[in-house]
Amino acid sequence: MSRFAIISDLHSNIEALSAVFAKLDREGVERVLCLGDVVGYGPEPERCIDMVMERCELTLCGNHDEALLRGAHDFNPIARQVIEYNRRTLKPGLLAGAAKRMRWKFIESLPLSHREDDFLMVHGSPRDPVHEYIMKTDVIFIPDKIRDIFAHFEGLCFVGHTHFPGVFTEDLQFRDPGQLDYEYRWQGERAIVNVGSVGQPRDGDKRSCCVIVDDDVIRFVRTDYDIAAVQRKIYGDPAIPDLCAARLEIGK
Ligand SMILES: [Fe+2]
Repeated sequence: MSRFAIISDLHSNIEALSAVFAKLDREGVERVLCLGDVVGYGPEPERCIDMVMERCELTLCGNHDEALLRGAHDFNPIARQVIEYNRRTLKPGLLAGAAKRMRWKFIESLPLSHREDDFLMVHGSPRDPVHEYIMKTDVIFIPDKIRDIFAHFEGLCFVGHTHFPGVFTEDLQFRDPGQLDYEYRWQGERAIVNVGSVGQPRDGDKRSCCVIVDDDVIRFVRTDYDIAAVQRKIYGDPAIPDLCAARLEIGK
């Protein structure tokens, strides 16, 4: 098998995305797949789309990417405010230049899921690839939901969407990267790996998160980036709520 990285939930945070790619370059990882949510929340959706188009072999459609195209119907007010702002600035009008058209076409072209070897990749869940959240608390409070999700795939399923990295196993356990010592050794069982978020981690660790898959070893990789620089851009942009900046330094 091969060596590759999976990233997700970049959310217009170019500082985080650049830092992650720099780390992957240092690690010698050439192949990078993205599970979606390139846009939303952060200050630089265009630069993130450009970098993903250039560097990712494959990018899937996240709920924010979908909302960019079709409107944010089930979003909270903050998420909706930013994605509607993104839509106003990214949607090409009659006189739009080539770069703007290309970005929009790229988002329109994103597939919902990807299968290769024993792996399934989606943004949300195998039952509902774009929208469904698989929460760590579901294993305790909604175990039937997790059982049903496990009936929808074979092998390993990689997801993003919650911005909370870790591994779900079929015995209804969830373990975060710390509990796994940042490494999960896959032995053919069914498991769901949440790769975490590059641009807006919510597990209390403010560093960017992604995974490197090396044959049957999945390693969670955390990367420091210039959070203050992103925050300055957000505070300087009246269309983005300040909360989108404040949460980055606590990783929530
Ligand atoms: Fe997201």
